[in-house]
Amino acid sequence: MAGSNAVKRIGILTGGGDCPGINAVIRSVTKTAIFDHGWECFGIEDGFLGLIENRIRPLRAGDVSNILTRGGTILGTSNKANPARFAVGADKLGNPIFADVRDKAAANYHALGLDALVVIGGDGTMSCADGMTSFGVRCVGVPKTIDNDLMHTHITFGFTTAVETGVEAIDRLHTTAASHHRIMVVELMGRNAGWLTLFVGLASGADIILIPEIPYDLGILCEFCKQRRASGHSSTIVAVSEGARPLDGKQFVQQTIADSPDPVRLGGLAPVLARQLEMCSQIEARAVVLGHVVRGGTPSGMDRVLATRFGFKATELLATGEFGRLVVVQHGALTSVPIDDVANKQRLVPPDFDLLRAARAVGTCFGDAVR
Ligand code: F6P
Repeated sequence: MAGSNAVKRIGILTGGGDCPGINAVIRSVTKTAIFDHGWECFGIEDGFLGLIENRIRPLRAGDVSNILTRGGTILGTSNKANPARFAVGADKLGNPIFADVRDKAAANYHALGLDALVVIGGDGTMSCADGMTSFGVRCVGVPKTIDNDLMHTHITFGFTTAVETGVEAIDRLHTTAASHHRIMVVELMGRNAGWLTLFVGLASGADIILIPEIPYDLGILCEFCKQRRASGHSSTIVAVSEGARPLDGKQFVQQTIADSPDPVRLGGLAPVLARQLEMCSQIEARAVVLGHVVRGGTPSGMDRVLATRFGFKATELLATGEFGRLVVVQHGALTSVPIDDVANKQRLVPPDFDLLRAARAVGTCFGDAVR
């Protein structure tokens, strides 16, 4: 893009929960920007928090060497810093007081002479990016999350690594469950979307898969476990999403975080469900919460490739002046959609998704009455 709007100096930030492959995107964007375009790059620390607090450092090619294989993010991240609604203190009762600090964040961007930001994050981070547009901050987004729940992209980077990690964990649990003739309830993250649990459950041969999109009936689960025991199966593996809910029931909320843009912290359903199943089936049960374990570790080869493609595409959008867009992959091809089409929205597992039918066909129970 020629003219005064041309990009010469960019910032990169990573927001929301970390996941494997973020560093691969940072490396891809930085090296492509420097080598292909001759731009200057800056790393913003801890997501939008660093933009608000003006914690911004130069990123040179050497700074992103040897990070392709490293999990987490070298820039740090935050899932509490929405510039449009930033916690600036607390009232006498301890309730957070919020303020709109977008002018402050934008002033730091403009003072450094940044021409655009590459924002690597999920739906919450994209909503923050969207909110900065009216303050003259130009953004291009890259979809990141182990939850795979961003609208308009068939996959986010970090997801395939998380699936592999979850599968490895459940593969290990099969033998101990069988040796002790137990029900093993394994909980996975994913917020309100069941992608991670569905893929991990199917790939690891879980007998029961419980996802938020399909409310479960405890009676059906109990009967299923008893029938398996009666037909000679030594164990039952249950893969359950942190956001799964019983029929007519509520999600198991671990904590509410008042100053967070996403105040509901899920997690901790597995021990409750294990106890319920043990009581009603009289079969010994144990719970394992995989939690943040699946967010850690080195990215899979596929995630390194996807992250590199995403990073490259993001620089292409910057070069052609297509701001306010999120890189996505649809039917295997890279393209982009407006950021405000994905901000604060979630992509859930559709009821007619073929993997659900395939899983049911091999005998997987989803805790509902459908066979
Ligand atoms: O969005 C990614 C995710 O790992 C969710 O699956 C999970 O509910 C949430 O982040 C956990 O967030 P935190 O790291 O703040 O506990």
